[in-house]
Amino acid sequence: MTTNTTPADLARVAARPKIHFAPQRNWMNDPNGLIFHDGVYHLFFQHNPEGTAWGNMSWGHATSTDLIDWTEHAVALRYDSDAQIFSGSIVSDDTNTSGLGTDGRGPLVALYTAASEGGQAQAVAWSDDGGTTWTKYGVVLDRGTSDFRDPKVFRYENHWVMVTVEAADRQIHLYRSDDLLRWEHLSAFGPQGPTEGIWECPDLFPIGDDWVMALSVNPGHPAGGSGMLYFVGHFDGTSFAAQRWDWLDHGPDYYAGVTFSGLDERVMIGWLNNWIYAHDLPDAPWQGSMALPRALTLRDGRLIQTPAIVPTEASRQVARDVALGAEEWVLPADALQTAVRLQMTIASTAATVALTLESVEEDQAAPSVHLTYSEGELLLERASDAFIDNELFPVTASVLVPEEHRDALDLDIWIDAGSVEIFAAAGSLTLSVLTLADYRRRRLAICARGGEALMTEVRVTELRSSAHDQSENRD
Ligand code: FRU
Repeated sequence: MTTNTTPADLARVAARPKIHFAPQRNWMNDPNGLIFHDGVYHLFFQHNPEGTAWGNMSWGHATSTDLIDWTEHAVALRYDSDAQIFSGSIVSDDTNTSGLGTDGRGPLVALYTAASEGGQAQAVAWSDDGGTTWTKYGVVLDRGTSDFRDPKVFRYENHWVMVTVEAADRQIHLYRSDDLLRWEHLSAFGPQGPTEGIWECPDLFPIGDDWVMALSVNPGHPAGGSGMLYFVGHFDGTSFAAQRWDWLDHGPDYYAGVTFSGLDERVMIGWLNNWIYAHDLPDAPWQGSMALPRALTLRDGRLIQTPAIVPTEASRQVARDVALGAEEWVLPADALQTAVRLQMTIASTAATVALTLESVEEDQAAPSVHLTYSEGELLLERASDAFIDNELFPVTASVLVPEEHRDALDLDIWIDAGSVEIFAAAGSLTLSVLTLADYRRRRLAICARGGEALMTEVRVTELRSSAHDQSENRD
């Protein structure tokens, strides 16, 4: 903390998340090298080990057995005088195709971007001890360009496939390899879809018979600044062809999401932030948190996202068949003493239903979040003038609810200190938003305007997990 600590800075320290991963100290951006290996989830992440601003990029490391409680470990891959370590992925090379494993045992192999003044190229490191310590092997793929990054590798039939991106060209390149070290160009995909922004962090994966290409765009998201989109299409082993695309999350704060290697189901973790103001957030010893892990499926060509964590705490019903009118229904204050999951269904209505999460202490001036449901449209607004000196921080984001969910809209809202994530319409819509406020000083109220609406059931789960605060081995 500097001597110029503001009330916003103090509120931000209090707003350390309970159920979202954040490093103990210093800057974090993208999730990297997500892998489920020997019963443990590994989350590596873009990290500055020496400061609260972006720089000295290295891979931090945390592990979990339930995707809720995280233990942070020593920095896994550290920048050196040759290069910073940008984003990438990890695979388990079980049959030691790379030959890097000791005594023929299969190592974990990381593919990351070595970024230097001279350019960006894909490099390899390997680990013989399940991901704790890493040895750098060196660059394996160099196009001699300056914005070539973010390799994501997966096993396809009996070889490896990598997707990686020429960010400024908005073009994804696909490569194949037998040994993770020598790569042969297969094809390119893009530019396609929205026309603004650079492309970053591609991820290509199958769901059933379809293939999904997820990627991050900066700027150009409808909520302002950076965000994610996905294409649904077909991969024939050589190239990817898209049939349709959509925004992956409709809120302002979801970026650089990638899926785990080593799992049969698809689980994605994204960075809960937006490049447009990430550097302007109030001061805290830690900067940046991850969004909740999400399970991904497809329904009618549309990505369905549901929380991939199962709280151990029981949920309780706090209201049933509430006729909403102009008078506010207020969530019992004790439910907001920790992180909370709020599940509700809003039944057929000609009215506008408005949900407000706001600070109860005016001097804190923490950002308020308003979610409005009207005529089949969900509107998310974040208002704040005092917290951040960035005109793009106040946000308005809207999305249409699919027809079949309009008469009974289900909302699954996860409120942590500092953020709100909304899963709506059986997972067909998500909205992620930073609030930066300490949840204990907030109030949540719902009302209907211009008519009545019915809230059929409200359930609350108080989420107390905070084991990731007990980190080990930090240097
Ligand atoms: C995305 C990104 C990546 C890059 C990393 C650098 O947020 O810009 O493209 O590898 O962050 O920290």
